Order: sequence, then structure tokens, then C-alpha cells
Amino acid sequence: MAVFALIPAAGMGKRMGASINKQYLLLDGVPILARTLEVFQRSPLVGGIFVVIPQDEIPFCREQVVEQYGLSKVRSIVPGGAERQQSVLNGLRAMEGVAADDDVVLIHDGVRPFVSEDILSRATAAARENDGALVAVPAKDTVKVVENGVITATPPRETLWLAQTPQAFRYCVIRAAHEIADAERFLGTDDSMLLERLGRPVRIVVGDYRNAKITTPEDMVLAEAFLKEKQQ
Ligand code: CTP
Ligand code: MG
Repeated sequence: MAVFALIPAAGMGKRMGASINKQYLLLDGVPILARTLEVFQRSPLVGGIFVVIPQDEIPFCREQVVEQYGLSKVRSIVPGGAERQQSVLNGLRAMEGVAADDDVVLIHDGVRPFVSEDILSRATAAARENDGALVAVPAKDTVKVVENGVITATPPRETLWLAQTPQAFRYCVIRAAHEIADAERFLGTDDSMLLERLGRPVRIVVGDYRNAKITTPEDMVLAEAFLKEKQQ
């Protein structure tokens, strides 16, 4: 049973507000996306990588990231869609004929460069034994549900987990869940949700607070610090 990585990297990085797409911002001289892909390139588990990129950025990504950093496991650079879910679906469709039904797909945001081999291996193991697995960390803060500026609920903190990636599934399971959501025009905020709505269990794999998604400018400050710590 092979393991494939599917890396959605076709967003616009609007919340970062940088002049270039956030995934090409440099961390110690290396683009964030290249750092993310390198983790999968190095992993002995991973047989191939599919990256999803905005159509007009594909040549730039091929030259400046995939070729520049010798990412030989990248099998295909797939054009993305308007929403992350559409980008992932495009990637899953591009895997047809390459990934077998029981192969594991690790869906991982292109802007989470601090994912570790340990997380990849625990997520893969959990995906083999369950319908799906989601890497997540316990919420540190109390979370409030708010409507029109007024708190309507305070869910018990012990029940709250913050979703990260990778989210790991057998290929046939996640492909079917995405196709159903697409046909029903259901838009979820992550991949796990598309299984949850079908009543299929998704297991939590305990992640790492450092496996953060680089979203806003202050995340770059944190990312520099995490990188320094790693390099020590
Ligand atoms: N993504 C994607 N296709 C989209 C939107 C997002 O592949 N249409 C990817 C992003 O490139 C990123 C990941 O999904 O790697 C997580 O999304 P997010 O952090 O929201 O990135 P952006 O959508 O680029 O940022 P923003 O929402 O601030 O515009
Ligand atoms: Mg987004």
C-alpha cells in the first residue's frame, strides 16, 4: 500500500497581504512551499507528491520550487480551484490511475512547513486502521460561540481540538467523499468534514503546536522562531 502526498497550494494568501503569494515567502532563504515539500521528499513513507497551484503560477512553481530544490517525488503540478476544497478535488482526480483504492493520501497544506516525519507516520498508520485521521492539537484558549456580538455558548474546552494537517485517508474513501460533496454543492472548511457529514468516523492524531499554518504576518515571526529552534 503506497502513500501519496496531496499538497493544496493554490490559495491567494489574502490574509498575509504580501506582494507575492505567501507560499513563496522565504524562511532563511528558502520558500515556505519548498520547505513543506522537502519534508515529504525526505520521508521514506511517501511514494509520490501531487501539488496543486494556481494555473498561472505553474511554470514558476515548477522552475523555482520543484526543480530548484530537486523535489523529484513531485509527480504532477495540478491547477487549483476557487476554494481549497475544489483544489483538493482537482488533486484527487489527478491521482486517478496512480493511487490505488487502498493507498493512503496525506492531504497537507503547502503553508505548514514544520510538519514532522513522526506526524506523517502516525497519521498514515491511523488512516490504515480507520476511515480517516486528522492531526489536531487541544485548544489552549476557552472558545466562545458568538452570534451578533453576544455569546451563545461556551463549549467545554476538553472537547475542543484545533484541526491541522495532514488529514489522512484511503484514496477511495476521500475521493468518494469529495465527489459526493461536489455533487451536492456542499462546501466544508476541511477534508475531514466531508467524511463526518456522511457519519464516517475520523480519528484524531495528536499533532504539534509548531505545525502551524502560516496565515497572517505574525505567523512569519513565529515561523522564524520555530526554524531557529530547529536549527540549533
Ligand atoms: N488553498 C488551495 N486552493 C484554494 C485556497 C487555498 O489550494 N482555492 C490552499 C492554500 O494555498 C494553503 C491551504 O489551502 O496552502 C490553506 O489555506 P489558507 O491558509 O486559507 O491559504 P490561502 O487561501 O492562500 O490564504 P487566504 O485565505 O488568507 O487568502
Ligand atoms: Mg484561504
